[in-house]
Amino acid sequence: MKFRYANGVPTSTENATANILKAAADPNVISFGGGLPAPELFPVAEMKAATDKVFDKYGRLVLQYAQTLGYPKLREQITDLMKDRHVDAEVENIGVVTGSQQAIDLVARMMINPGDVVIVEDPSYLAAIDVFNSYGAKLVGVPMDEDGMKTDALAETVKKYTKAKFIYTIPNFQNPTGRTMTEERRKELVRVAKEAGIPIVEDDPYGAIRYAGKKLPPLKHFDKDGGVIYLSSFSKILAPGMRLGWLVADKSFMDHFSLMKQNADLHTDNLTQYIVSQFLLDVDLKKHVKKITDAYEHRANLMLELIDKYFPKNVHHSNPEGGMFIWVEIPGGVDTDELFKTCIKNNVAFVPGSAFFAGDIKPGTFRLNFSNMNDEQIKEGIKRMGKAIAEVVDN
Ligand SMILES: Cc1ncc(COP(=O)(O)O)c(C=O)c1O
Repeated sequence: MKFRYANGVPTSTENATANILKAAADPNVISFGGGLPAPELFPVAEMKAATDKVFDKYGRLVLQYAQTLGYPKLREQITDLMKDRHVDAEVENIGVVTGSQQAIDLVARMMINPGDVVIVEDPSYLAAIDVFNSYGAKLVGVPMDEDGMKTDALAETVKKYTKAKFIYTIPNFQNPTGRTMTEERRKELVRVAKEAGIPIVEDDPYGAIRYAGKKLPPLKHFDKDGGVIYLSSFSKILAPGMRLGWLVADKSFMDHFSLMKQNADLHTDNLTQYIVSQFLLDVDLKKHVKKITDAYEHRANLMLELIDKYFPKNVHHSNPEGGMFIWVEIPGGVDTDELFKTCIKNNVAFVPGSAFFAGDIKPGTFRLNFSNMNDEQIKEGIKRMGKAIAEVVDN
């Protein structure tokens, strides 16, 4: 059968990134590729206890269809999490989603007609870029520096693309760069977007995983007129396999969102929502997150130390204050897709920078994940990469 696919379906089933991640998934490969949390920190026993309690207490109820925007108790608990992030939200402003990835998809579906402009940081989160492209968006990249998206460049961009549908940003420990937007830039971004009448989609799956520097309020905190749609997730603070995230937005947006969510999947897995709600009642989330941040701080510092030791001296790298990624840049225009091939022969993997750019690819760049490998793997993997980089740079 020759299927007549819709425009948004990729014509090629070859997906370079999927291939990279597949290669990296070989158990013999030390992988700094995927954005995976440390599985040894998943709260397995606590989740099991919460699950037993939920079945004992709610039995059939949790196996039934439920409300589209989520379990009301969990939505209330999310308003508390948001307070801790300096955002006042009511239950009606919260929508539970099947991972924040679903929120990215639904918001894109709600906003993008083919040919519409979406403004993104350059580089940005690959799976968001793919979603926006699938709805036919024209992506316009705004350059970044160590302080996040350059708001002066953004101001120029919105003057040129006055009808842009939204600005997508990851202000905390950005994927892929690990960089954090300063407080001044956050305020300025909200101001520029408001003046231009363009909404912001603030994607914040990593914000709670801060191990250094000062905690900064999200863009949503500075939003006084509902222009910011905030997304977050339990994936990095509990477990990504549970596929639980949330969205915070104005009531009027939520009413439309609810209809889109209903079309997509009626509601997010009810059982999982009850389990996480019970978990939040029984377990000290802050203590659990502290365990994660301590471990990630250690791994990030170890990796940075080894980069300084084994990579060429002129290499630049980001200095993340949290999250899971370090962004590396080798001066001299090295092709990191080629470097990947050399590395994979030596059983070590990363993601080449080419995967993350909406605009021109910046050569010599790549992303390293530090959360998923143990100390020994980090030591051996960075050493192997150092050798491979030396080979490529020498040639
Ligand atoms: C920036 C960003 N947004 C969203 C997601 C999706 O997370 P989830 O759907 O697991 O909540 C990820 C996952 O890695 C991410 O890096």
